Amino acid sequence: MEIRAVILAAGQGTRMKSDLPKVLHKACGKPMLEHVIAATRAVGVERPVVVIGHGAAQVRTTVKEDVAFVLQKEQKGTGHAVMQTRPLFEGYNGDLLELFGDAPLLSPATLESLVRFHREGGFAATMLTAVVEDPAGYGRVIRDSATGHVVKVVEHKDASEAERAVREINTGIFCFKARDLFEALAEVKPNNAQEEYYLGDVLPILQKRGKPVGALVVANPLEGLGVNSRAQLAEAEKILRLRKAGALMDAGVTIVDPDNTYIDQDVEIGRDTVIYPFSFLEGRTKVGGECLIGPNTRLVDTSLGARVEATYSVLVGSEVEDDVTIGPFAYLRPGTQVRSRAKIGDFVELKKSVVGEGSKVPHLSYIGDATIGQGVNIGAGTITCNYDGVAKHPTLIGDDVFIGSNSNLVAPVKVGDGAYVAAGSTITRDVPPASLGIGRARQQNIEEWARRRRKGHGEGAG
Ligand code: UD1
Ligand code: CA
Repeated sequence: MEIRAVILAAGQGTRMKSDLPKVLHKACGKPMLEHVIAATRAVGVERPVVVIGHGAAQVRTTVKEDVAFVLQKEQKGTGHAVMQTRPLFEGYNGDLLELFGDAPLLSPATLESLVRFHREGGFAATMLTAVVEDPAGYGRVIRDSATGHVVKVVEHKDASEAERAVREINTGIFCFKARDLFEALAEVKPNNAQEEYYLGDVLPILQKRGKPVGALVVANPLEGLGVNSRAQLAEAEKILRLRKAGALMDAGVTIVDPDNTYIDQDVEIGRDTVIYPFSFLEGRTKVGGECLIGPNTRLVDTSLGARVEATYSVLVGSEVEDDVTIGPFAYLRPGTQVRSRAKIGDFVELKKSVVGEGSKVPHLSYIGDATIGQGVNIGAGTITCNYDGVAKHPTLIGDDVFIGSNSNLVAPVKVGDGAYVAAGSTITRDVPPASLGIGRARQQNIEEWARRRRKGHGEGAG
């Protein structure tokens, strides 16, 4: 049976004290709204409808998913927000999920059980509720004391002392029969402390019309967490992170200390990889199997093959093949590709460069805009002088080249296959294949110079 969804994301999020629309704040590396969109997709919603208002332009450009946006010009409450989507559901008689863009912890499994409960009960509206320790700020679920049936939702600001004592809250997540929902919404009045149209107010309206209303208590109350403040954002972040670590461990990844490891939602990691503490795996990062990552390593939008070791290093927008070792203290910047069995050692910075199979950049180098062939050894302290103050230039190093320590390769420049560059050279012209390039002053020894100097300054002068 078809299922569609509306996600509310038009509110300002005043309590965040932020210039960024609340739903774009990230948890586990991803805007909260995208977590919610992903949950709807996981239960088979094809193209969720997202209600935007505050910061609408920014939300539109940030969200890359295929969704239908509906503008709520003035934010007059959650009921009013849903009402704006009515034209999109003209003639639709199926079920409609309604979710909040600030509730990123909801799992697809819970959403599925909500839909099942809704359908099996034949309800017109089914509310997902949670029983929490501290219900402050949430809408309270008021049940009939005799029957236990849900009667209404009372918002915190409108609640009496007795109602505030209720610990069952409205998560803001509902499943509706679309037609019943929109008919009831038309009757909702903003008679409350905030003078807003509350979505929860459809429940008593539906019941008055003889339509059954249900409520499902979520097994894990944390799934109902709504993020209104930075403190709640940190709470959501932590829960999502531990959930992600748990899923990875279940799939065969060792995470030495999940509390101190930060892996974004969409990161993929292969079996038998070990992640040491204080590592950050962000964005669209992919790590193969049997890797050793960390401690203190940050991977951003980076892909690693199998059996890669990366320690105390930062890799951004880079691609690393199998059996490579990186670090400690290496920095791989965007556009870098490291081919299999290469070694990138300590205090090495690579930018937009290719390091060929089995090649080594072991110590203290800056390599930018360079293409390095296979089996190359780059001596300690070698740098590419890729920038002349105006433009960037390429350096090409062939296969089996040996670059002596502390060389400067002034780009644009080529070093041919099998060539050598003498240590300490400043190479400004191409080095032909199988040749030696030397670009440094010839050494001169002035004999007895040091002895004469000491004498000249007088012995014992201190
Ligand atoms: C809301 C619920 C409350 C529930 C809690 C769960 C209402 C009136 N209150 O309170 O019962 O316990 O969530 O977290 O429904 N939004 C719009 N347009 C608007 C107003 C809000 O799109 O005009 C969106 C917001 O962007 C947000 C969501 O609706 O994503 C909830 O709004 P928010 O102001 O956070 O409501 P709460 O006070 O948290
Ligand atoms: Ca909220």
